Amino acid sequence: MSIYLDNAATTPIAPEVIDVMLPILKENFGNPSSSHSFGRNAKALLENARRTIAKTINCSSAEIIFTSGGTEADNMAIRCAVEQLGVKHIITSKIEHHAVLHTVEYLQKQFDVEVSYVECDDKGNTQLAHLEKLLQKNEKTLVTLMHANNEIGTYLPIKQVGELCKQYNALFHSDSVQTIGHIPIDIATFYCDFLTCAAHKLHGPKGVGFLYANKRNRIQAFIQGGAQERGLRSGTENTASIVGMAKAIEMANEALEVKINLVWGLKKYMMESLLNKIPGILFNGETTLEQSLYTVLNCSFPSSKNDGMLLFSLDLKGIACSGGSACTSGANTGSHVLKELKVDTQRQAIRFSFSRYTTKEEIDFTVNYLAELFAE
Ligand SMILES: Cc1ncc(COP(=O)(O)O)c(C=O)c1O
Repeated sequence: MSIYLDNAATTPIAPEVIDVMLPILKENFGNPSSSHSFGRNAKALLENARRTIAKTINCSSAEIIFTSGGTEADNMAIRCAVEQLGVKHIITSKIEHHAVLHTVEYLQKQFDVEVSYVECDDKGNTQLAHLEKLLQKNEKTLVTLMHANNEIGTYLPIKQVGELCKQYNALFHSDSVQTIGHIPIDIATFYCDFLTCAAHKLHGPKGVGFLYANKRNRIQAFIQGGAQERGLRSGTENTASIVGMAKAIEMANEALEVKINLVWGLKKYMMESLLNKIPGILFNGETTLEQSLYTVLNCSFPSSKNDGMLLFSLDLKGIACSGGSACTSGANTGSHVLKELKVDTQRQAIRFSFSRYTTKEEIDFTVNYLAELFAE
């Protein structure tokens, strides 16, 4: 038995995505910057992929910059804001992904940028009144807050945050790595300067992603070298993976509401089954469809003689999921997100994350095994 419930870490690549990538790897090996026919063919594939992606999120193709994934896109948005767009103050939260947090810390040290952390409640909800207070500082500001938290799933009210940023003339970046391809995103309906995407979170290949950069901001490359991506991102493009990403995004957006209801049904079913079979179990972060990502369920288990080895026991049984312990001792530094939310450190926390390939049988198997462990 092999059960994959770690889709927030990465997803299996869709067979249809592999099918569009293989012929490119075999035959379309041209460098998109070359002027001969091989190069022109590769360039046409790239631009086609860019148009597909732009269409799915409703922006212009010129606003899509291909990167090596979510981390690079986050770095690019935040560093360009400081190094090129004159940002002197960054507002973020303590529950961001390290791709954002460590970049912000680096800029604070290197460029003496002021950093403010907006408060979150114990379910990871951004406190908008506090955000507004922080925005009142009279300095060029970047707000960088993730669209959905990768550990607990809680959503950011992105439209309201965008409105506040617009009102206070701040730049707004949202790490949307866990939401693009998972919920409908129409960039024309909210105010935002930068969004980030990683293909491997939506059944695309690893090592590829993009930055959406609104054309009202004039940014330049932050990696120096060739003039690829209209001079915005140097380095020969990974044509096959970019085309694979476009296919993955296109597929993710087909019948999206049906997929959302299907996967949400599984999450709800798992929550109900766990509550029935493991008294005392708690869920971290928001859990409703409206307030949280339907693909993520973060659980805190009651104490038991088996809980110390929980992740290991699940792995031995063939169940892959993520540890999210708030524990601070020993080698396990624990989750910075759960620590910030003041989750009980005595309890083992596990993140289960689902995809359109997850089945009810897999949930049943996992819950029954957990129930066995906690009955002992
Ligand atoms: C919210 C979030 N941001 C950024 C990243 C980093 O993306 P990548 O692995 O493509 O660099 C991840 C992946 O773990 C993520 O979940």
